[in-house]
Amino acid sequence: MSKSPRIYLSSPHMGTDEFEFVREAFATNWIAPLGPQVDAFEQEFCAVVGSRHAAALSSGTAALHLALKLAGLKPGAEVFCSTLTFSASVNPIVYEGGRPVFIDSERLSWNMDPSLLEAALASRAAGGILPAAVILVHLYGQCANIAAVAELCERYGVVLIEDAAEALGARYFTAAQAPQLSIAGDQSLGAAQAGGSRSPRSRELVTDNQEPITGAPTPRVSISPGTIGRMGIFSFNGNKIITTSGGGMLVSEDETLIRKARFLATQARDPAPHYEHSEIGYNYRMSNVLAGIGRGQLRVLEARVEARRRNCAFYQQAFSDLPGIEFMPEAPWGRSTRWLTCILIDPARFGFDREAVRMALAAENIEARPVWKPMHRQPVFAHCDRFGGDVAEDLFNRGLCLPSGSNLAEADLARVVDVVRRVGGL
Ligand SMILES: Cc1ncc(COP(=O)(O)O)c(C=O)c1O
Repeated sequence: MSKSPRIYLSSPHMGTDEFEFVREAFATNWIAPLGPQVDAFEQEFCAVVGSRHAAALSSGTAALHLALKLAGLKPGAEVFCSTLTFSASVNPIVYEGGRPVFIDSERLSWNMDPSLLEAALASRAAGGILPAAVILVHLYGQCANIAAVAELCERYGVVLIEDAAEALGARYFTAAQAPQLSIAGDQSLGAAQAGGSRSPRSRELVTDNQEPITGAPTPRVSISPGTIGRMGIFSFNGNKIITTSGGGMLVSEDETLIRKARFLATQARDPAPHYEHSEIGYNYRMSNVLAGIGRGQLRVLEARVEARRRNCAFYQQAFSDLPGIEFMPEAPWGRSTRWLTCILIDPARFGFDREAVRMALAAENIEARPVWKPMHRQPVFAHCDRFGGDVAEDLFNRGLCLPSGSNLAEADLARVVDVVRRVGGL
């Protein structure tokens, strides 16, 4: 008997314009390395996320590596990072000889717990040596508590780098303060950047009053994650909400940082007619062809967010009567993209654990994945220091990511639901 078609966790979903941009790259022979599609993709990306400057790169990992170099990370220095994440958030710290220190999650968002970050910063300040940077990860399409983390980084003068690889399209709400919204002639920007982050209010913001506002008398605006820290990174890996098959973006308000990133990403070529190098460089730029795909994908980003949120709502409705199943909460400070719909399974109440459900789905040719195994539990990082860790461990032990692609049909979601309900005996 032939198997049912495979349902993937999150597969690429092309729109209608990608091919035209790629065709343009071919027609003009701008195949590689850089070219007009890259320039346009950077500008259009800036417009979408509300950042001033961006460098299109070969991956999100490359973007994070350059961000750490630009933050001045030196061998032996510490970098604080969310423990509940993918290893790519941490590996670049080690590329530079840095020492990762892991910070546990809070339950409200599954992202970095600001109170633990505060304790970690206070302990290092007491010892007289602060970390070179904080890497704040926005997991599974959901913003961390950015304002709290940014305030701490500001207070301690530590560079904030936002890893928004999984959170393109998410929104972070902040109170509207009309007189401070204009970016033109904003003198506070440079001052804010001297510290770890910049104020969410010191830049152009998108009003977003359709969002449900609980108990907030003033209108709210929303901004993109990745744009508040000194630098932010995004990924266009094949499983992300939009993809260039592989690629990443580094964003910052500081043009000098982005210029330097572009320089380092193209083998650090000093200006000279011959090849002259006074620094070690990298081959990290995005190709013109892939940038064409990215331009097309940007045009359907909002539709992709809506589709993924619809998937999550479908699962929520379908599991509403199941005991022992909880969804990743949507924190009140933002709109998650629900890049992946994640559930927690309580074996005592559901009757089976996360692995039993995952394996039942696998038997039906359906891909589901455990929530990220925390970095402090990874053999390669077992020696690293950490603050907390129990919350991330619990989320890993009970968490499962369900198929969440924006190209899934309702019949696909229904197949997933059927298997989970069958495991639960319903
Ligand atoms: C949280 C996080 N950070 C960084 C990355 C790295 O991005 P890339 O695969 O584009 O290198 C990813 C995804 O792959 C990720 O999920």
